[in-house]
Amino acid sequence: MHCSAPLLSLLVATLCAVVAAESGTEKLAIGSPKVIPGRFLVEFDDDYNNDQFRVQAEPEYETRVELRYTLFRGVSIQLNDVDTAEEKAVQLASLPSVKNIWPVYVIELPELELEEVVSAGVSAHSQLKRSGKTSLSNAPHVMTQIDKMHAEGITGKGIKIAVIDSGIEYTHPALGGCFGEGCLVTSGYDFVGDDFTGYNNAMPDNDPMDCRGHGTHVAGIISAQENEFGIFGAAPGAVLSAYRVFGCTGVTTSDIIIAAYNAAYEDGADIITASLSARSGWSSSHWNDPISRIVERGIPCLASAGNTGDSGLFDVGNPGAAKGVTAVASFENTVRPTEQFKGYHIIDKASPVSFPIHHGRPGDWDGVERPLWATGYNLSTTVDGCEPLSDDTPDLSQYVVLLRRADCSYSDQAQNVADKGAKFLIIYNNEPGFNFIFLDGIEGIQGVAGISMELGETWIKALEAGSTVMTDILASDNPERYFIFDPDYDEAGTVSYWSSMGPSYEMNAGPNFGAPGGAILSTVPVSQGSFGVKSGTSMACPLAAAAYALIAEARGKLEPAVVADVLASTAKAQAYYNIMDQTFEDWLTSPVQQGAGLIQVYDAAHATTLVTPTSLSFNDADHFIETLNFTLTNSAKNEISYDLLHTPSRSLYVLEPDGIKHSTWDVGNVNVHAEILISSSRVVVGPGESTTIEVTAIPPQGLDLKRMPLWSGYISINGSDGSSLSLTYQGLQGSLYNATVIRDDDLWIASSSAWTLDPVPDNTIFTLPPPGTPWSWEYNYPLVIMTLHWGSRIITADIVPLTTCPPNTTIQARGMETIGQLVGYPQLWSPHGETSVTWEGSLADGLYAPPGRYKVVVRALRIHGNESEDEDWFMAESQPFQIKYLETVGGDDDGTGDDAPSQ
Ligand SMILES: *[C@@H]1O[C@H](CO)[C@@H](O)[C@H](O)[C@H]1NC(C)=O
Ligand SMILES: *[C@@H]1O[C@H](CO)[C@@H](O)[C@H](O)[C@H]1NC(C)=O
Ligand SMILES: *[C@@H]1O[C@H](CO)[C@@H](O)[C@H](O)[C@H]1NC(C)=O
Ligand SMILES: *[C@@H]1O[C@H](CO)[C@@H](O)[C@H](O)[C@H]1NC(C)=O
Ligand SMILES: *[C@@H]1O[C@H](CO)[C@@H](O)[C@H](O)[C@H]1NC(C)=O
Ligand SMILES: *[C@@H]1O[C@H](CO)[C@@H](O)[C@H](O)[C@H]1NC(C)=O
Repeated sequence: MHCSAPLLSLLVATLCAVVAAESGTEKLAIGSPKVIPGRFLVEFDDDYNNDQFRVQAEPEYETRVELRYTLFRGVSIQLNDVDTAEEKAVQLASLPSVKNIWPVYVIELPELELEEVVSAGVSAHSQLKRSGKTSLSNAPHVMTQIDKMHAEGITGKGIKIAVIDSGIEYTHPALGGCFGEGCLVTSGYDFVGDDFTGYNNAMPDNDPMDCRGHGTHVAGIISAQENEFGIFGAAPGAVLSAYRVFGCTGVTTSDIIIAAYNAAYEDGADIITASLSARSGWSSSHWNDPISRIVERGIPCLASAGNTGDSGLFDVGNPGAAKGVTAVASFENTVRPTEQFKGYHIIDKASPVSFPIHHGRPGDWDGVERPLWATGYNLSTTVDGCEPLSDDTPDLSQYVVLLRRADCSYSDQAQNVADKGAKFLIIYNNEPGFNFIFLDGIEGIQGVAGISMELGETWIKALEAGSTVMTDILASDNPERYFIFDPDYDEAGTVSYWSSMGPSYEMNAGPNFGAPGGAILSTVPVSQGSFGVKSGTSMACPLAAAAYALIAEARGKLEPAVVADVLASTAKAQAYYNIMDQTFEDWLTSPVQQGAGLIQVYDAAHATTLVTPTSLSFNDADHFIETLNFTLTNSAKNEISYDLLHTPSRSLYVLEPDGIKHSTWDVGNVNVHAEILISSSRVVVGPGESTTIEVTAIPPQGLDLKRMPLWSGYISINGSDGSSLSLTYQGLQGSLYNATVIRDDDLWIASSSAWTLDPVPDNTIFTLPPPGTPWSWEYNYPLVIMTLHWGSRIITADIVPLTTCPPNTTIQARGMETIGQLVGYPQLWSPHGETSVTWEGSLADGLYAPPGRYKVVVRALRIHGNESEDEDWFMAESQPFQIKYLETVGGDDDGTGDDAPSQ
């Protein structure tokens, strides 16, 4: 009965492959390869419903999500008996009215932690006054020409954008303040509830309020209304609908995402944006297929490309890589907003004035008003507080002490004022920017902070003039914040190095194009401070969605593919930025990372020349296509002549010099490129006419072929009307089918209680707690460590007994004698990379392995492999190891303690 278990998942995989083939899709994939045991998304034929299904379906199950939508009728079910889940899924799949059955995946919310930045800057208020509010606080609009659309009065009026995310805090004053008809957030649904973690029961309701902050930030990027910081959305005239798929913490699942897409479609969304991404690399994975259907109905769907640029090539996430879905890459803002704490000062009887302040450590400021005290009024002193203070110094405990940054250490300065009773100390900088003060245990000091030189000098001058300066430094948990805009930082305008790279394993392009996503200031829940800075492709995606709304208002609604093409063909490709040397190099970043480049929304909205397709894939060596075509259509009223030119990027090595390991963040680049022959370097196209251009590629010479070089670049097109357009191309030298996914060296057993992940000696004994015991630090479990150098459509992981007298539960499967697979296996559409699985003795069928000696055998299907062919699988075996249990459930002592296998 357990014999058929592994078979079941394989069958599901096959079903999915069939579905993808039938619908002719080339894309889509699943990310984090975690599958929820016993959970399936079942799609019905039309005119069939869950009640009929319940009668026909024998297994006992709980309904998780019912999907009664025009484009998707079905149900997500959790089988009660996980033991036999796979068998039962096979039965269900064979019911005549069941169209598809998919496993349900776990999907994470990719948030990038923004490191603390201490930088030069000018205060928001003074700088905003000087240069006008849009150029600093809304720099992303300037980067993408959205400011020019606003200047024409185009704000996305009449367009409804659906946001699939953690909900929206619609009560936020900059987000309309209400929910429902007539509000900014007009509709929506909460599919999950606050307490949903991805693994427990969802508690849906009608209120898509955000308790996390992510969706609120996304919503502000699209359509924040005017507010005190001068920040507003890219399409402030558009309305929003909110589909909440994440709880306050944790992950979500693919069945809920598919329901949310369908709900958004049925509620009349004009555009659907989802700032979520599951690692993948595959564009043909199955769970996104229902999302592609929505695009086919004319509704553009956008998703973030992912934040895994440091994992190397072949890593664009899903659903971004799905057929028809637009994947958005990230660029760094040209002006970096940094968040600072806030304080107020009152000089004599004047009104309070706010200022930014950088709390140091200790930073226990308490928001109590105190007068300022300084040692003297010398604005160029280099020794302020470096020596013990004079005897006539007052008791400093009731003051905030102000010192100038000096030639001695902050600790010396702090010690000297602490000796006179000081508890709070501000040290103003002696150069532009904020100084960060870190003190290690100076007794009595409770709070230190840095401020700008400008403010410090203002205060000293006031004190010198005999004024009283009262300060009120807000505590760090006070949500009031200050923003500093830094227009002069190294990464300004670069392609974010962490933005995920393509191509897909099907050799489709990676992201379509990019938008600002690094260091973005937008709305956050009022309880988190109302405004905040976040970074990620999560922030780039909503800006691109807003661009779709602006184009829809300007040009009238267009086919999703047409909008994607005009945005791609007018995008501006960015030069490669070397993050180690902090310099731009003289070649363009590969389109597999930046797509066509940074979107230029005004140019896209006004483009009269249409280029299609905007990306050419010459594929790998096995599937190499020598010549590809694209079409130029002139929809202007006049004849236009176009000059065409090849602008290569450098070749990138997918693998390290050993020809096996996947290059990670430091992908090797080589100044060699393909030769690209364009059928004509100048074409003249009459009004309303089209012409086809042929592009022939000769792959580069002289590269190290075992490292699998990827070659790519741009074809630029200058029109006599002043237009400047481009399309991208990519190809791979080497065979994806031949690429080594896994070897014996890439799979081993480590010990969960060891400091390293090194392999344990052969036949190490792991003494496990009794079956069913929750995981605990107290025990030492086997860790199964495996590295996939390439993604794989199917990975199996068997526990194979190594005893002369194997347990009677052994079955013959996948060419070996096995007791079953690790929980969560087989995995489908896996990304490349390292995984570690803690093995508590349980198997995919819910049973526990008997005590004994085992090895783990992993099989990974080759890219383009056929699972029916033995030679299309790579196999890897771990070293032998043993398990025993502390006590046996059921009273059968297994005689642990000897090296001989039990049973
Ligand atoms: C101010 O400090 C500088 C540097 O320590 C010193 O050279 C100068 O004499 C001081 N000025 C006064 C008026 O004490
Ligand atoms: C490209 O276009 C030419 C005509 O210009 C046509 O003969 C050829 O078949 C096309 N190639 C492809 C791959 O579509
Ligand atoms: C297009 O124009 C830009 C500058 O205007 C120039 O650098 C580029 O070489 C031109 N491209 C072609 C194909 O003529
Ligand atoms: C793939 O490997 C086979 C066997 O080693 C070899 O004959 C073939 O040329 C390889 N294909 C490519 C494109 O490298
Ligand atoms: C395996 O052996 C156990 C006892 O050793 C027995 O209870 C069980 O029924 C056996 N299972 C099969 C499939 O033979
Ligand atoms: C996979 O292999 C099987 C068995 O050799 C064959 O029947 C089937 O057609 C192959 N499938 C594909 C897609 O090539």
